[in-house]
Order: sequence, then C-alpha cells, then structure tokens
Amino acid sequence: MISTTAQSRSQAPRHAVKLARAAALGSHSRCGLGLRLGGCAAASRQHRIVSSSRHFSSTPATRLRDFFPAKDTPHIQRTAPAWPHHGYTMEEMTSVVPSHRQPRTFGDWAAWKIVRLARFWMDKATRMDRAQQVDKRHPTTAVVADKPLTEAQWLIRFVFLESIAGVPGMVGGMLRHLNSLRRMKRDNGWIETLLEESYNERMHLLTFMKMCEPGWFMKLMIIGAQGVFFNSLFVAYLLQPKVVHRFVAYLEEEAVHTYTRAIHEMDEGHLPKWTDPKFRIPDIAIGYWNMPEGNRAMKDLILYIRADEAGHRGVNHTFGNLNQREDPNPFVSTFKDRDVPKPSLKPAGYERSDVI
Ligand SMILES: [Fe+2]
Ligand SMILES: [Fe+2]
Repeated sequence: MISTTAQSRSQAPRHAVKLARAAALGSHSRCGLGLRLGGCAAASRQHRIVSSSRHFSSTPATRLRDFFPAKDTPHIQRTAPAWPHHGYTMEEMTSVVPSHRQPRTFGDWAAWKIVRLARFWMDKATRMDRAQQVDKRHPTTAVVADKPLTEAQWLIRFVFLESIAGVPGMVGGMLRHLNSLRRMKRDNGWIETLLEESYNERMHLLTFMKMCEPGWFMKLMIIGAQGVFFNSLFVAYLLQPKVVHRFVAYLEEEAVHTYTRAIHEMDEGHLPKWTDPKFRIPDIAIGYWNMPEGNRAMKDLILYIRADEAGHRGVNHTFGNLNQREDPNPFVSTFKDRDVPKPSLKPAGYERSDVI
C-alpha cells in the first residue's frame, strides 16, 4: 500500500486536476486516479434498456461499459450471492457511530500508527486539501470539515478502501484453515466469520465498481497495494495474529468514519448527484442486502455498508482480545446464560471476560 501511494504522489496533482475538472464540469470521461465515473444505471444492461439517463455520470452513455456484465448462458437464470446477507433493521444501521479504541499495548499502538500512516497517504493520493480535512485531534470520530469532498473523491476513497479491506479476512481465514488441517484441531468457528468478512468487503467493492470504471493508474495502484498488503499480512498473521486483528479493527474504524462523513455530507446537501431522487443504486446491491422498496437511495446503501463495517470493527477488536489458539468465536456460539453478542453495537469490541 505504501509503495503504491508513494507512486501516486508524483501523479496525484495531475490526476486531481482531472478529477476536479470532471466533477465540476460533468463532461469528461475520466477523473482523478484514472477512475471513470458513471451512473450505475448505465452499468446494468437491463437499466440501459429501461432508461438511457444516468444521474452520476461524466461519461457519455455510449462510452461507459459495464465493467463486469452478468454472463449470459443458455440455462442459468441468476447466480445468487453464495453467502446471503443477514440484514439489518433501520435502527441498527442508524445507531452506528464512529469511535476509537485507545491503544493499550505496544502492538495496539503499532497497529494504530500503521493505519494513521495509510490514511495520511490516502488523503494525499486523493488530493484532500486542508479545508477538506476534519479535526486532526479526532481523526476517526470528527466528521465535519470546512469543505466537503466531491462524489468523485468519495468514490475513489471507497474503491481503494474496499479493494484492500477484502484481503485480511481471507488471509486470516486461510491461515487458520491451514492451521486446523496441519495441527488436526478444531478452529472453533473463526474461519467462516473471517471468510465471510472478506466476501462482504468484496461485495462492497463490486457495488462501487458498478458506479465507475477504474483506469490504468487506479488498477496499477490496486494491484500494487494488494501485492504488498497480502504478503505483509500473511507474515504478520503467522507471527502476531492479535496485532493483525487490532490493525483490521482500526482500519474498520476508518471505514466507519469514511461512510459516516459521506452520509453527513449527503444530509447537508453537498452531494446532489447522490441525493437526486432519480439516482439508482446498482441491482447487485439491492439483491445482496435485500434492500426493501422505498429504501434504495444512495444514503440507504451507505447505511448498509457502514453497518457492515461496524460489525467488522467489533469482531476484529474482540478477536484481538481473545486467545487465538483456544477461544471459540463468540459471534457464532450459543451461550448458557446470555444472548449472542452483537459486534456492531460494541465499537471497541468485547473484552475476553465478557464473552468467553
Ligand atoms: Fe467495506
Ligand atoms: Fe470492513
């Protein structure tokens, strides 16, 4: 991640200029970091038939292609999500708040500092100017800035964040799976939760990919970031799984913060393309989250995604508090004397004594 952000540094000014121009004029096909933006209606073949108007678009409809169109075969009608989403109530989604768990150990502190560094470079790469920064003393909880981000800037942040967020769960799940095979011991329920987390993050990414198409520069950044991130996490998880879970939890704190700020800016009327009643979110999202009719606006979508991130935050902070070898996963366990814990309601995670 660090190597690619360093690469972005030299290119960022040029791309940011394009981004600003594209967002301001709404007439260019590409914007910052090589991201081509488009209305999600244009991304769906079905939508193209129904309507030719796209409400968040800087690309002529004829030039934006569906980045991953559904495969048409003679026999298959539809491929449903392999890991169905459990769903949320509106109350669960709106009660999510950004928060920060203070580091308590050196490992916590190191994990927190790495996330801070990543956020610093992310802000640089997306050309956030000083007025767009939130209060630096409360970087994961303050959501008010003097100047809002544009839809284009938000999408770049979402895509980059989600493209790396799907990695740790897969690494952790894979290593615990191999460990269970090698040691011929039960895993006690961690693997599935970790793999489901990475699946869920990939669904976030695929949803945003229906709203834009990355250019070569963005693709290069994502490939580089994945290479560095996967290999670093692989080694780190073998050596210090607790620290990795804490690191992921801090990354999720950033995700909750990002989506909360985006919701705030939508509420304030700063993202008119997304609050336009005609704006349509992608079908893939409606199907995955089972979003009810009447609750399919961009804000609803971000509420769902933010609730997912809050769940990952609580799960990983909790996992960071547990004995990695022996403790069962409390989130898939049945308790003798209490309900199953709800990670999205526990921003700092559960302490080991609460759930084991
Ligand atoms: Fe995500
Ligand atoms: Fe997440």
